Amino acid sequence: MDISITRSAFLKALPDGNGLSFGTVFTDHMFNMDYSPEKGWHNSRIEPYGPITMDPSTMVLHYGQSIFEGLKAFKTDSDAVNLFRPEENFRRFNRSAEKMCIPRIDEAFALDALKQLLAVERRWVPFAPGTSLYIRPTIIAMDPFLGVRASYQYRFFIILSPVGPYYKEGFDPVKIWVTEKYVRAVPGGVGDVKTAGNYAASLCASEEAHKKGYTQVLWLDGVERRYVEEVGSMNIFFVIDDEIITPALTGSILAGITRDTVIRLAARWGNPVTQRRISIDEVMEAHAAGKLQECFGSGTAAVISPVGEIKYKDTVLPIGNGEVGMWAKRFFDRITGIQYGRVEDPEGWVVPL
Ligand code: COI
Repeated sequence: MDISITRSAFLKALPDGNGLSFGTVFTDHMFNMDYSPEKGWHNSRIEPYGPITMDPSTMVLHYGQSIFEGLKAFKTDSDAVNLFRPEENFRRFNRSAEKMCIPRIDEAFALDALKQLLAVERRWVPFAPGTSLYIRPTIIAMDPFLGVRASYQYRFFIILSPVGPYYKEGFDPVKIWVTEKYVRAVPGGVGDVKTAGNYAASLCASEEAHKKGYTQVLWLDGVERRYVEEVGSMNIFFVIDDEIITPALTGSILAGITRDTVIRLAARWGNPVTQRRISIDEVMEAHAAGKLQECFGSGTAAVISPVGEIKYKDTVLPIGNGEVGMWAKRFFDRITGIQYGRVEDPEGWVVPL
């Protein structure tokens, strides 16, 4: 399938790479493609970044039938541009599509479209330390209709945003708050895919966390409210008595690609990650016994984010004396080293542009 390219008549000034935060600046162009039952996915095009005109009755606005992905492009020291495991993102995109009754995309075509968009937008890949070009593929339901059913028509788009750290703390430890009041997902629901509603459902809890001085929410399982699931924008790892533990993928947790990368690296280093259910009580007990050595999150936006404090009920668990833990640093250094092309990549995770 051909992709038409319409270039913007005006190019924006590039932002100062050193002052970049997350998700506020967008590039000059975007990729767009439409779906109809008659034509399937069609009309693939790269065109100037701009608003999507839609009828107020458009289904995505009412029933939230939408999915998205998050991946990054990295500028290397030799001025090359690297993607990191992008096939995994498009594979997960299709898993999300299936669960949200959205027609699958051709993964190889989507990756090719992304590469063509990046070729047009290459100047936007920032090179200041710790920065990257965040990539947001999205599909939204486009039928103008108010009945509740799956839409017949869809828009697939990809937008790009030069970013710095996701958290204002950068790589300094963040503080997370365990909510007992709210749940994020339940078995049989959609917590294991990237759909907008999961994030909308997290907002009240996030607001409460912020008011209490915490960066993010640590979610417990939706049934017993005992087992740790994930943090708002990351998967979570604990190091207890030298064992690295992460909650098993029980159906209500997002299968993070950075999570998978941590698991594979740890196995290669001879310290396999245990994937199992872990209750918040176990975390509290490990802390009380002095065995909770580290806690960190993993995600595309957050990369590896050390956790320096967890609050559960009235108890505050300080972790690691405000320092970045050994494992968090080791994973962060290796993953970013591979992404920026500074260390070897035996698994072939990097896809150069
Ligand atoms: C990501 O890590 O890419 C995410 O999608 C998390 C968040 C920014 C929604």
